[in-house]
Amino acid sequence: MVFGEGGIELGLATWDDGVLRAEAGVHLVRKRFELPLGLLAEPRAEHLAPQRREGDGRTRLQAQASREAKQPVGQGGRRVEAAPLLERPEADQAIARAAEAVVLDQGPDGLLELARGESCHGSARDAPIAPDCQRVPWRASRERMQTDVALVTGASSGIGEALARRLARDGHALALVARRVERLEQLAAALRADRGVEVHVLPADLTASGACTGLVAELERRGLSVSWLVNNAGFGTNGKFWELPVEREIEEIALNVEALVELTGRCLPAMVARGRGVVMNVASVGGFVPSPYMATYTATKAFVLTFSEAIAAELRGTGVEVLCVCPGLTRTEFQSHVAVDTEGIPELAWQSADEVADEAVSAVGRGPVVVTGRVNRLMVNTTKFIPRGLVTRVSGRVVRPRANA
Ligand SMILES: NC(=O)c1ccc[n+]([C@@H]2O[C@H](COP(=O)([O-])OP(=O)(O)OC[C@H]3O[C@@H](n4cnc5c(N)ncnc54)[C@H](OP(=O)(O)O)[C@@H]3O)[C@@H](O)[C@H]2O)c1
Repeated sequence: MVFGEGGIELGLATWDDGVLRAEAGVHLVRKRFELPLGLLAEPRAEHLAPQRREGDGRTRLQAQASREAKQPVGQGGRRVEAAPLLERPEADQAIARAAEAVVLDQGPDGLLELARGESCHGSARDAPIAPDCQRVPWRASRERMQTDVALVTGASSGIGEALARRLARDGHALALVARRVERLEQLAAALRADRGVEVHVLPADLTASGACTGLVAELERRGLSVSWLVNNAGFGTNGKFWELPVEREIEEIALNVEALVELTGRCLPAMVARGRGVVMNVASVGGFVPSPYMATYTATKAFVLTFSEAIAAELRGTGVEVLCVCPGLTRTEFQSHVAVDTEGIPELAWQSADEVADEAVSAVGRGPVVVTGRVNRLMVNTTKFIPRGLVTRVSGRVVRPRANA
């Protein structure tokens, strides 16, 4: 049963691998037809919907499908991407009405037993769904409706915040991660008000032991599935490596590399299973060139670049996109944490966080790497033709620490 605009789609449906498969004959019915069709659908009517080949006169609906974008998946088939069902109050009311039509039994504990749990995902909430029942039992995890979210790490400032704003503008529900909870709450409130999207705030220090596992568990607990993973959180250190506190260098690797790899590893299996998803990893133009005075930072970004390109190749054909975003100088709080002498760097070499975010999102699906900004692209392409030793020395000049740092 799928709730569409202006009525209910009742399918003679079966479950298969968590995807609701329904006959092409599924109809969008007006409200006056809910009850009779509910009764028809209820008594184990799957045999009326024999299995067929994908795309052969049948429709494939994501379990939380609704009326949104439709893409062909094969001859005669269509694929419906979802607006999250549970967020829509009218869906709850429709479930309550339709559930009354498919009730078979009421258990001794007063719980409603439904003929086919598959047709009543939304009723898994603890709210009453009909006058004479308290709640509907939760049948199985596969019946659970999940909300797709774009998980953005480092969303409390800079490029991460700009990416969150951009993704909200595109209608994505969001899960925002960083340490500064009040900044995340402010952003979440603004995005809910301005864009009307669902926003979850998940404060975390991603360098802390078990932080990524905890984050993924919290997403699961909230019924959120990650459709976009934006690994953006990161920081840089600069100075002569042997003079820098090694603990901070290790923390840098923990955030820029380890957290990114762990979150990617924990989110990818579900994306592959669903045949869709985006992993966006924020590296840097520094990933193309070793930089003296930012040795650890550029090494972490080289890792992110290589890792992203490699998994992008592995994921070809799975429906999951990987994009490594390589910004150059971008006006964010990043600059206040590193003592690079940026005076004298011409204005045209700089980008705003919004420009980086827009280029990044637009580049999804067009290859595994995007270098943002014309000047940065020119620079990266030029370095391919210059001896690496020379490039390294020049790069060191650019990021040399300020004299008074
Ligand atoms: N700005 C540039 O010139 C530039 C150039 C190339 C690449 N980049 C990359 O772009 C990404 C974003 O940086 P930005 O320029 O936007 O800098 P930023 O304004 O300093 O943002 C960094 C973000 O990372 C978060 N963060 C830092 N440590 C964290 C931790 N331990 N756990 C969770 N979150 C943490 C920060 O939030 P909290 O402090 O609230 O935790 C903040 O939201 C980084 O990966 C950076 O390497 C930046």
